[in-house]
Amino acid sequence: MAYWNWDASYEIGISVIDNQHKRIVEYINELHGAFVSKNKESVSVVLIALADYTVSHFAFEESLMEQAGYLFLEPHKKVHEKFVETVSRYINDFHKGEDISGKLMAELQIWLTHHILHDDKDYKEAVQKLLAEKREIPKEIKKKSWFAKLFG
Ligand SMILES: [Fe+2]
Repeated sequence: MAYWNWDASYEIGISVIDNQHKRIVEYINELHGAFVSKNKESVSVVLIALADYTVSHFAFEESLMEQAGYLFLEPHKKVHEKFVETVSRYINDFHKGEDISGKLMAELQIWLTHHILHDDKDYKEAVQKLLAEKREIPKEIKKKSWFAKLFG
């Protein structure tokens, strides 16, 4: 059984973001599996994959918030930044041989749940509006846009 089951209540209603959040939850489950197997090599691999994916996801969210003119972009970026620092600290401690499993698993779940339900749901309206506007852009312009490639 999975450590953490995705729940529909975590959906913010923007499918591209919801799918990325789901993938992060999957990585957290993979990490749990690696900790349970006590295989340091797999823990290390999953930790890095989770961190990399999360950083790209944050960059993606930030770019949408920026284009949407979202008012709280800067504070939201700060929250992302702090989380990346925290995860990096755990990774360092792990490489120093510390047992980070219990604390890290708890922190990942609590942080992500809170972040999605509060911080991410807060930008929902602005970003949804942006995406709706992007859909109205004429096809010739759309072809050249990186954005259109993702959402077109
Ligand atoms: Fe976020």
